[in-house]
Amino acid sequence: MSDLMSIVKGRRSIRRFQDKPVPETDLQQILEAVQWSPSWANTQCWEIVVVKDREMKERLNEALSPTNPAKKGLPDAPLVLALCGKLKSSGFYKGQATTKLGDWFMFDLGIATQSLCLAACNLGLGTVIVGSIDHDKAKDVLGVGEGYELVALIPVGYPAKESAAPKRREISEFTHSDKF
Ligand SMILES: Cc1cc2nc3c(=O)[nH]c(=O)nc-3n(C[C@H](O)[C@H](O)[C@H](O)COP(=O)(O)O)c2cc1C
Repeated sequence: MSDLMSIVKGRRSIRRFQDKPVPETDLQQILEAVQWSPSWANTQCWEIVVVKDREMKERLNEALSPTNPAKKGLPDAPLVLALCGKLKSSGFYKGQATTKLGDWFMFDLGIATQSLCLAACNLGLGTVIVGSIDHDKAKDVLGVGEGYELVALIPVGYPAKESAAPKRREISEFTHSDKF
């Protein structure tokens, strides 16, 4: 298996973190992975808030419901990256959506998120994409400006507990030949 495939297949959602800081050089590499992600017409509509302050992490954690499996570990992660997207830029031309699918910011942010998580995994760091949150609450905590949405919180740190790989669909279940 190539290194890339072992990272793609070996990356797991990590929800518990060691009390060990993430080196600044590693954070830079993770951000570089976002920087080089593809996006609609190279729009690069992402904005990232790097949260290290414990009180800020705890306030952000209040945006997660008590049943969110990421809630217990989030404040212990040395870093929480808040991924925000600029609205009405990706998929737009002269202020008009160019496809029936409208705003492509979620798509671009999804790609950037995967780049980020794979780069972190490559450095031995764990991540979990936390999308099931009260977005407005988290937005307020971070002071996200008008015209932007906070999409996901991504705690980053050294894994304290490994998780098992949830089962995947067989390739034959989602692959269609010539017609849907
Ligand atoms: C868009 C998105 C939102 C997610 N939101 C949450 C979340 O709110 N809480 C959580 O614990 N995991 C969340 N996850 C992680 C998924 O549960 C996880 O990726 C999936 O179960 C597959 O496991 P794996 O990442 O270990 O392969 C989210 C994943 C994605 C892609």
